[in-house]
Amino acid sequence: MTKGELLRLDRRHVWHPCTQEKDHELLPPIPIERGDGVYLIDLDGRRYIDGVSSWWVNLFGHNHPRLNRALQEQAGKIAHHIFAGFTHQPAVELASRLCALAPEGLNRVFFADNGSAAVEVALKMSFQFWQQSGRAEKVRFVSIHEAYHGETVGALSVGGCDLYREIYRPILLDTFQAQGPDCFRCPYGKHRDHCEAECFEHLERLVTERRHEIAAVIIEPLIQGAAGMRIYPPIYLRKLRALCDACQVHYIADEIAVGFGRTGRMFANQHAGVAPDFLCLSKGITGGYMPLSVVLTRDDIYAAFYDDYATLKAFLHSHSYTGNALACALAVEVLNIFEQENILEFLKPKMALLDAFASKFEGLPEVGEFRRCGMVAAVELVRDKRSREPFPWQQRRGYRVYRKALQDGALLRPLGNVVYFMPPLTIDEAVLEELLEIAYRAIEGSRGRAEG
Ligand SMILES: Cc1ncc(COP(=O)(O)O)c(C=O)c1O
Repeated sequence: MTKGELLRLDRRHVWHPCTQEKDHELLPPIPIERGDGVYLIDLDGRRYIDGVSSWWVNLFGHNHPRLNRALQEQAGKIAHHIFAGFTHQPAVELASRLCALAPEGLNRVFFADNGSAAVEVALKMSFQFWQQSGRAEKVRFVSIHEAYHGETVGALSVGGCDLYREIYRPILLDTFQAQGPDCFRCPYGKHRDHCEAECFEHLERLVTERRHEIAAVIIEPLIQGAAGMRIYPPIYLRKLRALCDACQVHYIADEIAVGFGRTGRMFANQHAGVAPDFLCLSKGITGGYMPLSVVLTRDDIYAAFYDDYATLKAFLHSHSYTGNALACALAVEVLNIFEQENILEFLKPKMALLDAFASKFEGLPEVGEFRRCGMVAAVELVRDKRSREPFPWQQRRGYRVYRKALQDGALLRPLGNVVYFMPPLTIDEAVLEELLEIAYRAIEGSRGRAEG
């Protein structure tokens, strides 16, 4: 297929995710031919630094020799088989190794095949647990403002980003939402590095008052990703764990985006030293190769589903591709790479490099804050630096940065007014520096007239 044909057929038949397709009239999708480490390479041979790890999934670069090999070896045995009534080594090895790495007490692994599905699983498991534990009145879920947990109807119901959910409101579950941390515009006048998570009072009040009807609180630990990489301190999670214990409410940790080293540790909850009741993982789990997700939970929760068939207590949830063998084999190799190549150790200089750019970005008139947690950093653009007033969304500042950065060879996909960096963990320092320079120039170059 020539590039022209490919783009014509794409326009004719393909509907891209999270996209206003009309934007493609001005900027057609870029046809990618292959990957090489942190680079995506298009049909014309142009290279783009993948500054967002292709929607936060890629951990060690594209076209990775070890992951390629693991995939081929497993494909030579079997790609997929039914996971009810059957099992296989990659799934069993993955489950046992994840349990060993995860916060203590999480000893059971349920498999699904994408992040939203893992969230659905955790919500359903929590609900069913209470139904089968003599607490049938516990039917509601709690999340925080600007939360993002995926886009299936259950996951959207616990989401808090109006952009994705407002139109579907009439068909969503009836959930509670509390004001969460907003460290950039902290109403308490504190800084995230020195606060006591005073903002936790909102969640605390809600959960305490409605504890009898609440099944679980779901939260993105340390970084609210889709909300614009809103970073908040671990103390918030410690308070949440204590509250959930006191109120007999489950804590569901959605580490779909932040798990697997993104925060500088394997799992974000480790920064707070707490263990959730349900831990949802996906995205980086296969290094960005195959869709896979898991939900880890405790043995006592598992036990509430374990009984004679006739009691109908089983968790009757399944996806056709549950426990896919190719994906599990890749996930096992991802854990091997973490271990054998000391991936987390090598992050330190890269995190320091990100920090070194803070003052440079903050010197720009439209930058309100540069923030970082682990290997995730974000630059928040504002119309007024002092009042922190945001640019109106209609100006599409982020989209303008995206377009400028593409011209310079980097894929950045800002979230509204937030330009962020979540590159593969293995990015070279020199390339990381280049990415940051491109972003800097793109922000400068995105000034001027608004466009549609
Ligand atoms: C925190 C979080 N939860 C859930 C999801 C949904 O994952 P998926 O897109 O695989 O359904 C995402 C995706 O971005 C996410 O960031």
